[in-house]
Amino acid sequence: MNLEPHAGPAAALDRVDVERVRRDFPILQQRIRDRPLVYLDNAATTQKPLTVIYALQRYYTAENANIHRGVHFLSQQGTFAYERSRARLRQFINAGDNREVIFVRGTTEAINLVAQSWGRRFLRPGDEIVLSHLEHHANIVPWQMIAAEREARIRVASIDDQGGFRFDEYEKLLNERTRMVAVTHASNALGTVLPVKEITAAAHRWGARVLIDGAQSVPHLAVDVRDLDCDFYAFSGHKVFGPTGVGVLYGKEAVLEEMPPYQTGGEMIRSVSFDKTTFNELPHKFEAGTPHIAGGIAMEAAVDYVNALGRARIEAYEAQLLVYGTEVLSQVPGLRLLGTAASKVGVLSFTLDAAHPHDIGTILDTEGIAIRTGHHCAQPVMQRFGVPATARASLAFYNTREELDALASALRKVNEVFR
Ligand code: ALA
Repeated sequence: MNLEPHAGPAAALDRVDVERVRRDFPILQQRIRDRPLVYLDNAATTQKPLTVIYALQRYYTAENANIHRGVHFLSQQGTFAYERSRARLRQFINAGDNREVIFVRGTTEAINLVAQSWGRRFLRPGDEIVLSHLEHHANIVPWQMIAAEREARIRVASIDDQGGFRFDEYEKLLNERTRMVAVTHASNALGTVLPVKEITAAAHRWGARVLIDGAQSVPHLAVDVRDLDCDFYAFSGHKVFGPTGVGVLYGKEAVLEEMPPYQTGGEMIRSVSFDKTTFNELPHKFEAGTPHIAGGIAMEAAVDYVNALGRARIEAYEAQLLVYGTEVLSQVPGLRLLGTAASKVGVLSFTLDAAHPHDIGTILDTEGIAIRTGHHCAQPVMQRFGVPATARASLAFYNTREELDALASALRKVNEVFR
């Protein structure tokens, strides 16, 4: 990258040289179906910069060894790189201690870990778990499972017609039985950003724990877990320009300490005999088995890339792109945008009167445009808006206005096909 020094959000769009940034992402140089790739499926997964690709290649080419277990050179070097990446991830979300940063497979595993470990230990019959109507299935089903087991009850905070979180209605759900509030920071289906700091403070007033699903926020917004004061924060590597199969669960040390292990096996123990096992200290207590070592190490490169670009600049650039995308899509005849809350990340979810979302996706694909269609693993959101599915274009900092023009133009072609 060759970026000018961070000049603050006001100058952001001018200061991000998107064409240079795009050259760091080899996949974006491809032609798909004989057209330049327009990749607008970033909420599903983001593309990887060369630094991340090289980190993976370097590890398997020259550094491969198991970590935390060997006295030989490669093992020690791998352990050092893996733990250095953990420290970088701690800085990235401003956690207080490396012990609070647990490597997991991704957001889904992080939430399952908390539901199973914390939930099984602390939920009692009659307790309540508050979710929002915007949740991804990964932040619904793990809670349903543990609620059924522990005879706890799920309550759902509603949203308005713009897809905005109804804070007043949420507050009414809180009471002395509320034990956990688990909400997304940003909706994958609509892009709505939730007021998670205020949600956390309100839950804490009732003594409840708070888990925030950060899968869709970390790629777009600066996150400071100590400022949010949440008990848990989860995100996936692959949505923040890192590899698939690796992610982070942040948990407050005191809360993690009182939780039992989630999975058992190697690495998470201190000593094992057939009579008794004692567990390793944090974070290893929650990291059973050989992890995705290359992925964990490459996360450092992903975070370094985002930091070099500047999170305030990313946020400001994407905000302008979102405004532009909203404008150009609104001018497409028969297009209905779902999710128009005041606070959003770069997600444009829509339907067209003329065509089913899957047909939209298929026709856009012939134009080299990649979007996601379907329920986005957020069926309650679809139900709320009375649609089975939407088409969804989701943005990253390497997207351009020209790509959004291409999207709008292709949608007009869809209208033509189905006229
Ligand atoms: N949860 C991802 C998405 O929204 C896969 O597409």
